[in-house]
Amino acid sequence: MPPPLDLVYDPYDAEIDARPYGVWRRLRDEAPLYYNEQYDFYALSRFADVMTASLEWQTYSSARGTVLEMIDTMPPVDGDLGDGFGMMIFMDPPRHDELRHLVSRAFTPRRVAALEGRTRELCAHFLDPQREGSGFDFVEDFAAKIPAMLIGALLGVPDEDQDQLRIWGDLLMRYEPLGISDEKADAIASLGAYMSAMVKDRQQHPRDDMVSDLLTAEVTRADGTRRRLDFDEVMSFFSLLQLAGSETTARLLGWAAVLLARHPDQRAKLVGTPELVPNAVEELLRYEAPSPIQARFVTRDVEWHGHKVPQYSKIALLTGSAGRDEREYPDADRFDVEREFDRLVTFGFGVHYCLGASLARLEGRIVLEETLARFPDWGVDEAAVELVRTSTVRGPVHVPITI
Ligand code: HEM
Repeated sequence: MPPPLDLVYDPYDAEIDARPYGVWRRLRDEAPLYYNEQYDFYALSRFADVMTASLEWQTYSSARGTVLEMIDTMPPVDGDLGDGFGMMIFMDPPRHDELRHLVSRAFTPRRVAALEGRTRELCAHFLDPQREGSGFDFVEDFAAKIPAMLIGALLGVPDEDQDQLRIWGDLLMRYEPLGISDEKADAIASLGAYMSAMVKDRQQHPRDDMVSDLLTAEVTRADGTRRRLDFDEVMSFFSLLQLAGSETTARLLGWAAVLLARHPDQRAKLVGTPELVPNAVEELLRYEAPSPIQARFVTRDVEWHGHKVPQYSKIALLTGSAGRDEREYPDADRFDVEREFDRLVTFGFGVHYCLGASLARLEGRIVLEETLARFPDWGVDEAAVELVRTSTVRGPVHVPITI
């Protein structure tokens, strides 16, 4: 099933990554099942296909990781796909469900709503001093700090360390094709040492925070027996929540600053009718998915669009392309804060549906409300906007704005 010769989707190509929309459109139209020979992976790009595959976890397994370059395509020994590197995002049920059950209650819409006041306080803390000046970096000086501080506080990281964990986390996620730099290696070591010290501290001196709760939480196994998490499992949870809770939402907020400056008419609608803000957050998530690619390991032969995907292949689910699929969203390349729709795959779908979706939505809404209330219009120096280079996250890390 060779794709048209001139159709190349290379997820590591910085130029494609900067503007993937044309390639994504051609994949959806001309090669809805795409095969990339160079990296030996398949890709699904249509909304309906991404959603179907996300739901079928038995066939599209996460157990070998969900980052394309991390997946090992060797046949499993004795049916064992792997241990998920200790993180539930890289596990299949039932192990995944046992772990998810432990933390899901902390992220329900009701529990998350209780964070609204703190989120507004943080916005005021970072935005008010900027009123005196002529501009600032919307992401680095403000927006990226909010998600890291909220998730950090839930986990129990002291206020003064929360931003440092974000900086290490960003470095850890950075894609470095030529091998790991010293800077990244140092960040990984520092983050690991910090987290390990904090977990050990909570073992001795439990507090009212999520890390302490995880140390005493009991997992109920499928057979009904119960057990506590071990040290490594608590560390894995800590890293997963800290990283997943910071990086993606920061990119959503960066896209908001860029897209609203690019579409001042849409921004004016939000200033005039703030009730539109929650819908604008949905549209931002659809239009520029902060986590545009989820990979899976295929556990049996399957067929898509008349072509076979062999057992033990890697397949990429292009969530970002799904958000631009005209089959699901009419006039999908138009950014419209009043667009009406009820389905989105930006947070994934099925068993791995984003645990932090309510929190991300709350952060998006409040950051926009608080920003628009202070700065009803701003300009962006597009040439200075910098996109992050990671294989899973896409979006601006620097957005210099003028006010
Ligand atoms: C705009 C912001 C966010 C986006 C776009 C996003 C996107 C996603 C996606 C696509 C998945 C599914 C991955 C897969 O199927 O392999 C996921 C899972 C997850 N997300 Fe988010 N996420 C965001 C914010 C957050 C936040 C704030 C948290 C904080 C708790 C979080 C925690 C998680 C966790 C723990 C999982 C794994 C769930 C599981 O395996 O059951 N995310 N996210």
